[in-house]
Amino acid sequence: MAAYRTLDRLGDIAGQRALVRVDFNVPIDHDTGRITDDTRIRGALETIQTLVAKEARVILMSHRGRPRQANLHDSLRVVANRLQELLDAPVDFVDDIVGTKARDAVQHLSPGHVLVLENLRFDPGEQANDPEFAKALAQLGDFYVDDAFGTAHRESASIVGVPRRLPSYAGHLLDRELSTLARILDTPRKPYWLIVGGAKVSDKVGLLGHLLSQVDGIVIGGGMANTFLAAKGFSMGISKVEEDARDTAKELVDHAKRLGIPVILPTDLVVTEAFRADAPARVVAVDAVGSHEMALDLGPQSIDQIKDCLQDAQTILWNGPMGVFEWDAFSHATMEVARTLAELPAAVVVGGGDSVAAVHRAGVMDQLTHVSTGGGATLELLEGKTLPGVAALGTYNDLH
Ligand code: 3PG
Repeated sequence: MAAYRTLDRLGDIAGQRALVRVDFNVPIDHDTGRITDDTRIRGALETIQTLVAKEARVILMSHRGRPRQANLHDSLRVVANRLQELLDAPVDFVDDIVGTKARDAVQHLSPGHVLVLENLRFDPGEQANDPEFAKALAQLGDFYVDDAFGTAHRESASIVGVPRRLPSYAGHLLDRELSTLARILDTPRKPYWLIVGGAKVSDKVGLLGHLLSQVDGIVIGGGMANTFLAAKGFSMGISKVEEDARDTAKELVDHAKRLGIPVILPTDLVVTEAFRADAPARVVAVDAVGSHEMALDLGPQSIDQIKDCLQDAQTILWNGPMGVFEWDAFSHATMEVARTLAELPAAVVVGGGDSVAAVHRAGVMDQLTHVSTGGGATLELLEGKTLPGVAALGTYNDLH
């Protein structure tokens, strides 16, 4: 892991401009325009409060969504409003990033106050990591703080370009994510189990490949289980099966077998004929999926099997839901796994956007050892990759 400075290394920063990259990429309901999950905003509070308490002038920058151009739906104004409620202090917002309006707003920002800039991705320079854009951003601050763990895998201007140009620090959230994940998972207490789900095998090949030799068992659920079952020769009806990943699934299972690692696949499934929240459903054994049926959840026998396997686990990493948990009728396996993990004495780490939403929904967020705010970033870290945002934090400090 790259060496970086944390906020406890800050000296007297009263009156200085702290340019802080946060990840305020929060879900917003398209119809109401309201934030549906503010976990990531809450995650950045500690860093913001530290800087405010030290009387810095705090300038926050983030992306939200994947906009092709500026638009009202993706504006960060709503996020600034929510931050104001959470901080219980005024938060300014400027609908500009590096133009005259933004520079004026920064100039007029008082010590101990907070300003949110407009969505970084409204400027194509952000994702292109354009040096001119990075330079213009860097001119807004005296020093840089990266607290955007969820975006640390992106080589964007605000993530890798700015820290080349300013003295840089890791915020509390970024530091906590990295150190907690390393503490629990670098030398896991054994038995160590991996639960992996979600739609696609191809999204998780890196994770499975990297962790196969470290874990003592793997549970496979969610849509990706269909591909593993199809690779074993089961007929999956009209379930989503990733044809291109069948061989990969088979190779992973064969590799695990050679290593003596159990791979737990579903034995029964909840199937339906239509992809709808209210579609009639039934439980079937994996060898009895009808030709017009698709699997959207795991059945009760599969859930019991998962619970049994995890009883003695000392460390559990969960990534990806077990079914279409957003719909009540197909949420049982995901909710049961979440509740089971909350009750077990094991150290439990949950990473990846959907499984985090699932533990939120199950109401067990506080009962788990660590729930990561990262999606793709957590996955890449757990795959053993170096995150560009973390590597970049040392660059200015090394160069100067
Ligand atoms: C995330 O939600 O994973 C991060 O905010 C990165 O967003 P992106 O996948 O749109 O780059």
